[in-house]
Amino acid sequence: MDEAENLDEVAAARIEELKQIVRRNAEQHNETIKTLKETRKTVRRNYHRMVQLLIEVISLENRYLGGHLKRCAETTWHFCKHMQLPKDMCYLHYYGALLHDIGLVGKETELSGIPPEQLSDQQREEFRQHPLYGEKIISTVYNLKRTADIIRSHHERYDGHGFPDQLQGSSIPHGIILDQVTIDKIHSFESMIEGDHLITVV
Ligand SMILES: [Fe+2]
Repeated sequence: MDEAENLDEVAAARIEELKQIVRRNAEQHNETIKTLKETRKTVRRNYHRMVQLLIEVISLENRYLGGHLKRCAETTWHFCKHMQLPKDMCYLHYYGALLHDIGLVGKETELSGIPPEQLSDQQREEFRQHPLYGEKIISTVYNLKRTADIIRSHHERYDGHGFPDQLQGSSIPHGIILDQVTIDKIHSFESMIEGDHLITVV
């Protein structure tokens, strides 16, 4: 065998070796991606269960508030699906609706059953603070900043007469309007079937 043939054989062996290394790396890479996807699913599932658990605890303390949050979330979810929004957006609005009144926990029991026109100035002001309380609670949770934004703005109104920031027209973030629409529809439905257990307008 001359020197050139020998070099060819060495090169071919080296190329084969490199191919095997690339194949092994690709397999490991695919395995890592699969594990990451499964981990993401597990984290999302656990996160969902924890939020559901929180809502169940709220329901035990105040069944009207708990029921209201669940109804808003379910309706928002179906609305998002009907609009064929991406799954991440569906989840964002679902959690926004599910947690929108979390700032009312404790307060709602105190204020429930009082017609809006009979609230004292102090009670009215306390009620108007609940989007801020809710935003504060939820913004402490990693990765829920956008959900916290929905919570803060769910009582803003197109005419600028909402609260807490009196945002008007297009200054209200577009996505938040979706949650407002479903929440308002649910409030109307609940006042028909259950009476005014929840304070909705002040
Ligand atoms: Fe609210």
